[in-house]
Amino acid sequence: MEEFADINAIFDMTRSPEGPSPVERLLNEFEAHESKEEKALEFYRKTLEQLPDPLTRFLMQLIVSDEEKHRAVIHAMVATLKGSLTWTKPAGSLEGGDWASMNGRLRGVTDEFIRLEKDGIREYRTLAKESTGYYHGLFKILLDSMIRDSEKHVELLEFLKGNLKAA
Ligand SMILES: [Fe+2]
Ligand SMILES: [Fe+2]
Repeated sequence: MEEFADINAIFDMTRSPEGPSPVERLLNEFEAHESKEEKALEFYRKTLEQLPDPLTRFLMQLIVSDEEKHRAVIHAMVATLKGSLTWTKPAGSLEGGDWASMNGRLRGVTDEFIRLEKDGIREYRTLAKESTGYYHGLFKILLDSMIRDSEKHVELLEFLKGNLKAA
């Protein structure tokens, strides 16, 4: 079974005499970024609290939700790197899952999810075209961002599918 993240194989885990190993440096950089994400999120949240206008609130809330996701993603990567460095499995680490056991069910539905996402992209594109010019282009911006989200979902699903095949 292929390990989900062969970080140990990808990076040279041996400590070089000059200082931290590449994976340690990477972890440091991720951790530095994690605290920046945290600050940005706090800043957005504080600003959001003071906004009375529904449109502004709605758009800022969209950003806050994305930032919360970014925080979760960075946190998961940090936990995974830490786990690799210390040969442990910290909370939130992405390694050491049991792919084989959940494979059957998920394998059957990933293609269906991918199809749904691609249908969604086509529909968003049509809607975006029709919405150009409405509300100063706001609807087009929102639809375009959902297209990008859906493209990301397809990428994630393709990755899952590849891992399910390998497991
Ligand atoms: Fe972010
Ligand atoms: Fe989606």
